[in-house]
Amino acid sequence: MSLNSFSPASTLLNRHLTFIGGGNMARAIIGGLLKQGLLTKNITVVEPHSVTRQRLIHDFAIDVLEHPDETIAQSNVLIMAVKPQVFPEVAKNLTPYFANLTPENTPLVFSIAAGIRLMDMQRWFGHTRLVRAMPNTPALIGQGVTGLVAHDSLNASERALIDAIAQAIGDTEWVENESLIDSITAVSGSGPAYVFYILEAMQAAAVTLGLDAEAGRRLAIQTFAGATELARRSPEALSTLREQVTSKGGTTYAALTVLQERGVHEAFQAALAAAAARGKELGEQLGQK
Ligand SMILES: NC(=O)c1ccc[n+]([C@@H]2O[C@H](COP(=O)([O-])OP(=O)(O)OC[C@H]3O[C@@H](n4cnc5c(N)ncnc54)[C@H](OP(=O)(O)O)[C@@H]3O)[C@@H](O)[C@H]2O)c1
Repeated sequence: MSLNSFSPASTLLNRHLTFIGGGNMARAIIGGLLKQGLLTKNITVVEPHSVTRQRLIHDFAIDVLEHPDETIAQSNVLIMAVKPQVFPEVAKNLTPYFANLTPENTPLVFSIAAGIRLMDMQRWFGHTRLVRAMPNTPALIGQGVTGLVAHDSLNASERALIDAIAQAIGDTEWVENESLIDSITAVSGSGPAYVFYILEAMQAAAVTLGLDAEAGRRLAIQTFAGATELARRSPEALSTLREQVTSKGGTTYAALTVLQERGVHEAFQAALAAAAARGKELGEQLGQK
């Protein structure tokens, strides 16, 4: 579900965004925002690594600072795109730049760092204008899905602004309860790896059945792409779509019977539960800093 009834471009009009960290995810979001019409003058990046800085300037013609300075206090949104391990230190070093601002003029903090909780951000930044998000790697080609949770204090237009930024890298899914971000991490955050795992298994099986590896790869990938697009366009339940292509006694039935006997459904239940539990544990560890 997305929050925006207005186009993302109009929601973003004249807003200034500062990215803290200019790595892969920041690049993906910046690329998407520029495509949506955000002006280059409305984006600043703080990035200490000189090669990364030069690439950003070359590719996007935006302002890139080596270190934060007082200009970042004029941003509407601070997008925290650094690794979780350095987040606490980076956040604490930013707070002096916002010390003299009134609460309503303090930039919203939009964190995409995995596992960093709202309550810890509140402690490090000293305010509650906070959103925590969990994107996934297809964001790098604008096909991601991002789970989001905002602090209760954010109003609808502030949430819509963050939604418009997240839409630069794909779809968005908002939750009210922060613990569901661990569930989203288990489903879509880690999800691309499950898809690659299944693709690998289908390719290996194709080779066992006599096809060459390249054909196995193409067949597996296109089957996934076609079937997921079919599911996306269909109003039917996923189980109905599966039943529609599984005639009793046929080939698909033979394959699904094996998958069922081997407990693949249960394995997914256990795998995603393990991912969600690990996400919670990592959040607790990061919060101790
Ligand atoms: N990639 C994904 O699919 C994905 C999915 C979900 C969530 N995320 C989250 O997104 C965040 C960014 O991931 P990424 O893949 O874009 O990582 P990345 O490519 O490593 O980008 C992080 C950037 O931040 C820079 N940085 C380090 N210290 C900094 C500081 N003090 N101030 C400003 N910038 C600093 C890094 O520079 P150096 O290289 O010099 O350290 C690097 O360029 C992470 O927190 C990750 O958990 C990523």
